[in-house]
Amino acid sequence: MSTSLEEAHIQLDQESVVLVLGGGQGITSELVKHMSGAYPCTYILVGRSADPRDVIADLKEVEAMKTKEEIRSYLIKTGTFTSPSEIEKETVRIFKNNQILRTIRDMEQLGSTVVYQSLDLCDEEGLSDLIKNIYDKYARLDGVIHGAGLLEDKLFRQKTSSSFERVFDTKVKPLRVLAEQLRADCQFVVLFSSIASVYGNKGQTDYAAANSVLDDYAKALNKKLKGKVISINWGPWKGAGMVSSTLETEYERRGISLIPLNQGKEIFLNEIKYGTESQVLIMSGNNW
Ligand SMILES: NC(=O)c1ccc[n+]([C@@H]2O[C@H](COP(=O)([O-])OP(=O)(O)OC[C@H]3O[C@@H](n4cnc5c(N)ncnc54)[C@H](OP(=O)(O)O)[C@@H]3O)[C@@H](O)[C@H]2O)c1
Repeated sequence: MSTSLEEAHIQLDQESVVLVLGGGQGITSELVKHMSGAYPCTYILVGRSADPRDVIADLKEVEAMKTKEEIRSYLIKTGTFTSPSEIEKETVRIFKNNQILRTIRDMEQLGSTVVYQSLDLCDEEGLSDLIKNIYDKYARLDGVIHGAGLLEDKLFRQKTSSSFERVFDTKVKPLRVLAEQLRADCQFVVLFSSIASVYGNKGQTDYAAANSVLDDYAKALNKKLKGKVISINWGPWKGAGMVSSTLETEYERRGISLIPLNQGKEIFLNEIKYGTESQVLIMSGNNW
């Protein structure tokens, strides 16, 4: 599908604006960083976490920590927090804060302007206002990547409706807002779906259901926009994102290999430039 001789289907210049839901962390941030190397422009990243630049600066020493293990042992050593739940909460907050900060700095170094917006995507009105403000300020929105998502895996009989809603709504609620607010000249919309919507996965009824809505919505939205709309059913990734070491071991046990970050980045960029299908499944084979 990809060929450097073929002209890319998207055209972004320094004035272009790309909205990235869930873009501050995980695989989405890695892929968008890579994309910003090829297409430096304005990227608006959205997540629930606070803007790390507004948070009272943690010590420089803490800011450099890349793993939860490092942060957790640092917090235990300092003794500032005593209960395990407080330590865990603070570990996650610092981990997220550091990831977002690194994403912003890396993309700025590659020549992009980065705006970070703290917003819960289950808040449809909030997202609607954000898109309206983007059109008011920039008079354009060239592309959207929806990579926000979360896992709260449990067997079906142990799931609560509030947990189901958090997982489902984070993925699905933004779709209606995008369908209503995006102007026809938006060049691309990429929805990060999962192989869970194709094959199912233990404990993931909520997540699989949400992703299958993404797959169907991509086809519907394709008819509305002039640009391309793609739902990517990603297999599990290695080196970033929501796949915990426990989940990684489970995938290995089932013979499912993980997508290596560097190859995945290239595949993503190729897909956005040259892809022609509204749904693609991308997973790792055994001979990477
Ligand atoms: N990693 C994989 O192996 C894999 C495989 C298949 C599909 N995917 C899909 O790829 C996407 C990215 O996955 P990832 O592994 O990079 O996940 P991740 O590291 O957990 O990152 C998820 C991102 O979504 C944001 N987010 C979650 N709930 C949100 C909400 N209600 N409102 C706003 N932002 C929210 C998070 O920011 P805050 O916490 O700050 O809100 C974070 O930036 C997801 O849609 C996932 O389903 C991933």
